Amino acid sequence: MAFSVSEMSRRAFLGSAGGASLASTLPKFARAAAGTPRRVILDTDPGVDDAMAIFLALRSPEVKVEAITVVAGNVPLPLTLPNALRLVEIAGRPDIPVAAGASAPLIRRLVTAKYAHGNNGLGGVEFAEPKLKPVNESAVQLMSRVVHNNPVEITIVALGPLTNVATALVSEPSLASRIENIVVMGGSLTGGNITPAAEFNFYVDPEAARIVFDAGVPLTMVGLHVTSRVQMHDEQIRVLEAAQNPVSQAAGKIMRATLDRWQKERKITGFGMHDPLTMAYVIDPSILTLKDYYVQIETMGELTAGESVAYSRAPRLSPPLNSVAPVDETPEGEFRPNCRVAVEADADKFFHLLLSRLTAGS
Ligand code: BDR
Ligand code: CA
Repeated sequence: MAFSVSEMSRRAFLGSAGGASLASTLPKFARAAAGTPRRVILDTDPGVDDAMAIFLALRSPEVKVEAITVVAGNVPLPLTLPNALRLVEIAGRPDIPVAAGASAPLIRRLVTAKYAHGNNGLGGVEFAEPKLKPVNESAVQLMSRVVHNNPVEITIVALGPLTNVATALVSEPSLASRIENIVVMGGSLTGGNITPAAEFNFYVDPEAARIVFDAGVPLTMVGLHVTSRVQMHDEQIRVLEAAQNPVSQAAGKIMRATLDRWQKERKITGFGMHDPLTMAYVIDPSILTLKDYYVQIETMGELTAGESVAYSRAPRLSPPLNSVAPVDETPEGEFRPNCRVAVEADADKFFHLLLSRLTAGS
């Protein structure tokens, strides 16, 4: 497919209209009118924790899910797509359009995480085939149409590799100024989970992540350094299992199967709430504390592809290896962040929200 990783240098971006306008739009997200549901598109690769996030979104009046767009990631698209459809069906929300997206990253081969999410992406728990069908539009068409028709109204909550989001931004450059915010689960300030450098979603499609971080769109990054510290254990799964509605029952089965397998195979007793914590922030921003950063995504590194390199001050470029051009030694420029990064989470508040929403109506 035709796409180009932004050629902008860090300094060029920081001095650009995208970089400048970002700062002025950041607070808007936090100022969303109380009582008005935040309108969201979920871009997702279900995925055990994606499933929790989707259930949470669909049972929370603070958000209105306008669409679900599906991407390959935790498992291939022929599994993530029906998984999204069955989760929507279990939640009793067939009104929500679900669209098929990319089946592979922009330029790389797909790497999945079946080891974490089970062969079917839902912890190996077998659910009935969904009756619901995806809409005729592609994920990119649906995402673009919804954003275009609702300028600066839509928050994209990206819970998988950023392939769909990047493709939409590249194929329709005017989209960037129309998105209210992209809240991304991905990256890390402290090292990865799939490699020492990279978090899974960014590792799977580093070029896509780079496009999104260079696009000048208001961005919020909820990285592994925070999400992996908020883990679901037996205690919370019991609460899900005890409740008697279809969502809590499905969520309990998925989490129980996942944790049983993890315990057996890897002696691990907790599962990081990566995607639901990201979703919870959109529902209740007080769950996360954020800090401004300038984040770049590594795409060239043989061992570090997908690493999120985060600056809390103006970045300096290292001199190019083979260039005879004079080394730029001008003093540090002005710090212009491109992203708000979660630095702390209120785990108690998060679990209260997640469990009360998933078990409601039992
Ligand atoms: C992220 O990768 C996936 O395995 C999870 O669903 C989450 O989106 C965590 O690194
Ligand atoms: Ca995910």
